[in-house]
Amino acid sequence: MGREARERRFRRWGHQPGWVLPRAIFATLAFFPKAPQKRPKADFVTFSKANLGGSIIRHLRDANRPFTNAEFAGSEISIESQSMWTDRRLLDLFGIAHPIVQAPMAGAMDTALAVGVARAGGLASLPGGMLSHEQLRDQTEKFRAEAPGKPLNLNFFTHKPPVHNNARANAWHNKLVPYYEEFGLDSNVQVPTRNRAAFDGTMCTVVEQLKPEIVSFHYGLPEATLVKRVKDAGCKIIASATTSDEARFLEDNGCHAVIAQGVEAGGHRGMFLSNEITTQLGTFALVPQIADAIELPVIASGGIGDARGVAAALLLGAAAVQIGTAYLFCPEAKITSPHRTALKSGGATVLTNVLTGRLARGFVNRIIRELGPISDTVPDFPLASAALAPLHEKAQAGGSGDFSAMWAGEAAPLGIEMPAFELTQALAEGAQDLLRKTGKN
Ligand SMILES: Cc1cc2nc3c(=O)[nH]c(=O)nc-3n(C[C@H](O)[C@H](O)[C@H](O)COP(=O)(O)O)c2cc1C
Repeated sequence: MGREARERRFRRWGHQPGWVLPRAIFATLAFFPKAPQKRPKADFVTFSKANLGGSIIRHLRDANRPFTNAEFAGSEISIESQSMWTDRRLLDLFGIAHPIVQAPMAGAMDTALAVGVARAGGLASLPGGMLSHEQLRDQTEKFRAEAPGKPLNLNFFTHKPPVHNNARANAWHNKLVPYYEEFGLDSNVQVPTRNRAAFDGTMCTVVEQLKPEIVSFHYGLPEATLVKRVKDAGCKIIASATTSDEARFLEDNGCHAVIAQGVEAGGHRGMFLSNEITTQLGTFALVPQIADAIELPVIASGGIGDARGVAAALLLGAAAVQIGTAYLFCPEAKITSPHRTALKSGGATVLTNVLTGRLARGFVNRIIRELGPISDTVPDFPLASAALAPLHEKAQAGGSGDFSAMWAGEAAPLGIEMPAFELTQALAEGAQDLLRKTGKN
């Protein structure tokens, strides 16, 4: 995206002219402070000369060179803008500067993205749903080494074990046979898939050892004894709700905050009290309903693609936002090239169950068009993805995402490619500007 287009985008998010830095470097330093005299003292990010890293100074000289997270390594950035937010419940609970939670995205990210967000003052998350214990330990250690002192959210799935049903597995297999034949694949050969394991006692022991500041759950909560163990380890617990009933359940069963996941959201629906698709509401309707239904702070999630979405969510009653798809645009996201291409080309997304056996939102591709988007013969989550794995591998090798899960939310067309540090700062600054205009901040 060119400088002018990018500047236009930021203006739409609420930024105004009058930056302290020369216009020539506006595009690459959009998260830098405005002129101090135009804003109250505690309202801008301060960079003292002493703590500006050499690479940042080089960057100031060379406006066209993109700014990377690595350049922040070792440099201390004092963030005063955190005092701007009027609702401090989640800032204080999590120990963060901005009410922005980077969504955990299993299979799409690792520490690189999380570190950028943490350094910018948001809450970093690492998805544990598809990681072994060792991988989770390694990533946590790496995060802590690269973002010392920053809080971390470790995220887990809590789905019920799948019910193996041979009749359904065979029926699904038969639907896939023509595709296997088209690619010259033996439909009886299984390809190992990355496991989506539900949170259990052994993973809980790992959590007790790692002691992340926050643990988040998707698809409901684990059994009460595990919830207690996580709390006793000193972790705050948050979890996704897609209805007011689910939010009340989470409040009654030990959560410290509730993520209200609207139907616009990319990835799997966190629904757990019902499988009924008609219960699923958009973020605009869901957030105020959940905010009214419970006492706990609410984290709005789904379809929040820029600073306008952040500000709107806070006005709807959320105390913070959780953002996934917008972070997929960051160079640090670990996604396949067909997925990145789909993000950039702004394709349509749809709710589908044919890729994993569970409702999720992603880009429409061939398998969704031809067998879905919703099928009642698909095997239980996560078995359906194993059946598709050989086709996914083969198509990906040819550069195609025809049989792959390319999760993304409805706000994908709003995405801007920039490092996670910049994105987090731009979202926070833009939302603060918008809220100031409404007199709500
Ligand atoms: C690629 C992708 C992977 C995701 N994986 C997870 C996950 O592992 N755990 C989880 O709790 N949520 C996951 N989500 C859902 C997010 O937590 C969040 O609800 C969603 O991204 C918010 O909507 P948005 O994508 O419109 O910002 C995923 C979302 C995406 C886009």
